[in-house]
Amino acid sequence: MKHIVVLSGAGMSAESGISTFRDSGGLWEQHSVEDVATPEGFSRNPRLVLDFYNARRKAAFAAKPNKGHVGLAEMEKDYRMSIITQNVDNLHERAGSANVLHLHGELDKVRSTVDPSLVYTLTPDNAEIKLGDKCEKGSQLRPHIVWFGEAVPMMEKAMKTVQTADVLVVIGTSLNVYPAAGLLNYVAREIPVYLIDPNEVKIYRQGIRFIRKGASEGVAELRELLKKDI
Ligand code: OAD
Repeated sequence: MKHIVVLSGAGMSAESGISTFRDSGGLWEQHSVEDVATPEGFSRNPRLVLDFYNARRKAAFAAKPNKGHVGLAEMEKDYRMSIITQNVDNLHERAGSANVLHLHGELDKVRSTVDPSLVYTLTPDNAEIKLGDKCEKGSQLRPHIVWFGEAVPMMEKAMKTVQTADVLVVIGTSLNVYPAAGLLNYVAREIPVYLIDPNEVKIYRQGIRFIRKGASEGVAELRELLKKDI
């Protein structure tokens, strides 16, 4: 079976009603990255940061996978699929994808601030953490999110995964954030790269097959193209 590696970003979940970051009206127009997505912001005002992720977690729990997520999950019948996502929602998993790597963490998980191995899973009925909610070692809980300035623990595994791709598919990411965007440099030159996005994306590679559509329509077109191309 051919190995298809997908790198997805916020645009993948846009049709499920989850805001992207850098489109007009996106999350970074309404919130300061420094305040809500850095360790320094969390030290300065933990309540603000917890509230920001509580709201996003509730939105993610309420959202449903769109046809794009479902189409990628269905592709497991025909291909070996690996999904590397920058998204912190779990819509790929809920659509049925079995092999999903979260580069930037997971909204439905929280962890200890003294021991990163103490990770807890929240549920739709218990979707918030508050100041004073503690791990079993007595330290404040924080979102299980990779903030700017923090290491990206899954990066090495992601690099190894893209190196074994027969096809790379990039969906709904502006490729502004490193090291995630740098994953493209680990894909061998002869490997076909498909890009699904309704907008122009700056991508430094020759021969990109650009499907200028949203995720749902784009994944449907990708599946047709792959039947002919590989
Ligand atoms: P961006 O908001 O930077 O980019 C979203 C991309 O999705 C853009 O290229 C849009 O054109 C595209 N898009 C919009 N609607 C779409 C649709 N219906 N179907 C497909 N694509 C669509 O989001 P990311 O690139 O994912 O990190 O952002 C990367 C990281 O920056 C995030 O993981 C987050 C953020 O800061 C952290 O918080 C650590």
